Amino acid sequence: MPVKKIKFPKIILAPLSDVSDLPFRMLNRSFGCKFAYCQMVSTRALINNKPKTEELLRGHFRDHPLGVQLLADDPEVLKKTLFILRSYKYETVDLNAGCPTPKVAKKGQGAGLLKDVERLKVLMDILVRFGDRPATIKIRTGWAEDNLVAVKIAKLAEEAGLSAVFIHGRTRQQGYGGEVDYKTIKEVKETINIPVIASGDIFSGRLAKKMFDETGCDGIMVARGSLGNPWIFKEIEYFLKKGKILQGPSVGELKKVMKKHLAMCCKFYGEKIGVLKFRKHFSWYAREIRYSRSVRNMGFSAKSVKELHQIINILK
Ligand SMILES: Cc1cc2nc3c(=O)[nH]c(=O)nc-3n(C[C@H](O)[C@H](O)[C@H](O)COP(=O)(O)O)c2cc1C
Repeated sequence: MPVKKIKFPKIILAPLSDVSDLPFRMLNRSFGCKFAYCQMVSTRALINNKPKTEELLRGHFRDHPLGVQLLADDPEVLKKTLFILRSYKYETVDLNAGCPTPKVAKKGQGAGLLKDVERLKVLMDILVRFGDRPATIKIRTGWAEDNLVAVKIAKLAEEAGLSAVFIHGRTRQQGYGGEVDYKTIKEVKETINIPVIASGDIFSGRLAKKMFDETGCDGIMVARGSLGNPWIFKEIEYFLKKGKILQGPSVGELKKVMKKHLAMCCKFYGEKIGVLKFRKHFSWYAREIRYSRSVRNMGFSAKSVKELHQIINILK
């Protein structure tokens, strides 16, 4: 079966569960993000018609190119999911083989798949044979340092006909801490001929360049670096082109963007839920600003747009 091709840009917004909703994606797109992922979707929840799961896939005609990411462990459930997804508008589908959360990994999903290569092979085969769009996989370097399986899985992904491999340069055991393993990402890149997109500590233009330089990867994924920081896309592009650091936003601009993001959340979810959803973004935006603990707590407990505007206004 010929590989379904997809051209990824060099910089991609990662799937971020509980974060990369439509307002977040659209905001980042308005700052130069050229490819974004929805929040991860559970295949079991989707086939069981859970309304909250459908909401994760709600898009916009401008929200493209868009990737969907699936959490799967059961081949039949995955087949049904791919059938349901035929009516959705998105460009590519990814299988999550990296989520470290115990309740996910223990069920054999996410990073749990790194320990069950036979199941992973079956799932990748289904993605290619029953999916109607290019399929990819997002892995970690391995379950633990003494069991690095990334190269082996990347080869299997290529053999299965997947269109790219995403790799977070940490083991499941590392979670989100510890050093990024650039060496293993490089080995993966040197082993397979499909695109390799690297993830891990892409917090600045300089770290983005380090990832390209040390691994030879085809692209990078921005994850935590985008939290409260949609400017990162321009910063990375600028650094890659000019080798210089782009000046960050002024406090005034930051406050303007916070209000814009809040308005987008409220438009999408309604004010009550929109305010709740925005509160975590508030702390990410505000982390670079001088502000007292009491202001931060006020942000966390705000219940209306009016209250949040008052708090944003006092940041300096
Ligand atoms: C809040 C949060 C949610 C995440 N959700 C997902 C997810 O749903 N799917 C996934 O493949 N990775 C997820 N990740 C992992 C990131 O996509 C990325 O691979 C990882 O954070 C490493 O990149 P970084 O060090 O630049 O943050 C998540 C990470 C964070 C911090």
